[in-house]
Amino acid sequence: MGPRDHFATRLGFILAAAGSAVGLGNIWKFPFMAGQNGGGAFLIIYLAFVLTIGFSVMLAEFTIGRAGQRNPVGAFRALKGGAWPAVGGLGVVAGFVILSFYSVVGGWTLAYAIKAATGALASNDPETLGAAFGAFISEPEGVIGFHTLFMVLTGGIIAGGVRGGIERASRILMPVLVVLVIVLAGRAVTLEGAAKGIDFFLTPDFSKVTWGTVNAALGQAFFSLSLGMGAMLTYASYLDKQVNLPKTAAQVTILDTTFAVIAGFMVLPAVFAFGFDPAAGPGLTFITLPAVFAQMPAGQVFAFLFFALLAIAALTSAVSIMEPVVAYLIDERRMPRRWAALLSGVMIWALGVPSALSLGPWKDMTIGGKGFLDAMDYLASNIMLPTGGVLIALFVGWSISARAQEEAQSDGSHPFPLIRVWIFICRFVAPAAVAWVLISGL
Ligand code: TRP
Repeated sequence: MGPRDHFATRLGFILAAAGSAVGLGNIWKFPFMAGQNGGGAFLIIYLAFVLTIGFSVMLAEFTIGRAGQRNPVGAFRALKGGAWPAVGGLGVVAGFVILSFYSVVGGWTLAYAIKAATGALASNDPETLGAAFGAFISEPEGVIGFHTLFMVLTGGIIAGGVRGGIERASRILMPVLVVLVIVLAGRAVTLEGAAKGIDFFLTPDFSKVTWGTVNAALGQAFFSLSLGMGAMLTYASYLDKQVNLPKTAAQVTILDTTFAVIAGFMVLPAVFAFGFDPAAGPGLTFITLPAVFAQMPAGQVFAFLFFALLAIAALTSAVSIMEPVVAYLIDERRMPRRWAALLSGVMIWALGVPSALSLGPWKDMTIGGKGFLDAMDYLASNIMLPTGGVLIALFVGWSISARAQEEAQSDGSHPFPLIRVWIFICRFVAPAAVAWVLISGL
């Protein structure tokens, strides 16, 4: 084995980390979660979690990864050992669960890119668009086929390795997607009747806040920033010492959050302008956006571009969910990269099948009142990621505090003025907040 593969440049790392963070979580999940959880109040609670716990856990993952230079399990073992490697193990398991349903929705975006190109989505009637989504989702061949295609693409990029696959894929198309989302948001907020949606999104109504809102906002913060399972940790393990970690964590956090907020402006005003139901759930973006495209000149072109780029954004995220699993198999089980990609890909694909069927043929099969896809999402986002995130924070805050502070500041070459605040959040604030949210749920 040669030396460990590394990112070529700091820009390459930022783009890969941002490529991980920006994905379906921003464009598909955030708008429908905000829609289901009362809009403005959800937004504020979400932002509060992102800026405190989110940023801190991201810096903690960067620190552990770069110090450990290994996959999540190996990094904890190299830095401390004891029971800590189990935290990395939890992350690897979470990766399986997340990617299984993520790939299903990624498949929807591929299918919608094709539908858009053929003009199948050209309508602004809520009923028609809702029915089209419903019909698509209930056909097993289609949803499983596109889920399969998405997993094959993800596994293929993974098999190519860090520089060949991940870095190149991330740096090309992200900027185009940014521009497109801004254009679409611009169109959505100027629709007749959009004001009600803007109001819904920006005016918090705290009387509607329940425990569920807070838990959803916390889970969404972890999910959207790719935290709590070692994805950012694994990417940082491919980093050299010179990179300024706090600065990079701040940039990725801001970029991801900006993206989510703009996606909110792209979807929610249109929801109200066209009279869709904001609480419609996972189908919301897929039903609403075609109506926006129908109001635009060359709408079909925009529609195709949008879904194609969304599929690519989803791919760069999916790759980051799979990489910890594969890195674990390579480092700890001595498997060649290609075999590791194939083995984990097949297992994740299989776990995704019930999710793929859960909005259609298997919609009556529920777990705790949720369909399979929703249940997987809930288990991963609202339970596994916050739990993993807190353990990561505790590890940095208590177990390797001195070492972590040195590493986070690159041994003094990048002093971080908020280093004590960061350690304080890792020690007390993050654990207390997450414990409070999780325990009050029981
Ligand atoms: N953050 C990505 C998104 O918003 C999804 C994602 C990538 C992820 N890597 C992750 C979520 C690791 C949780 C953990 O679409």
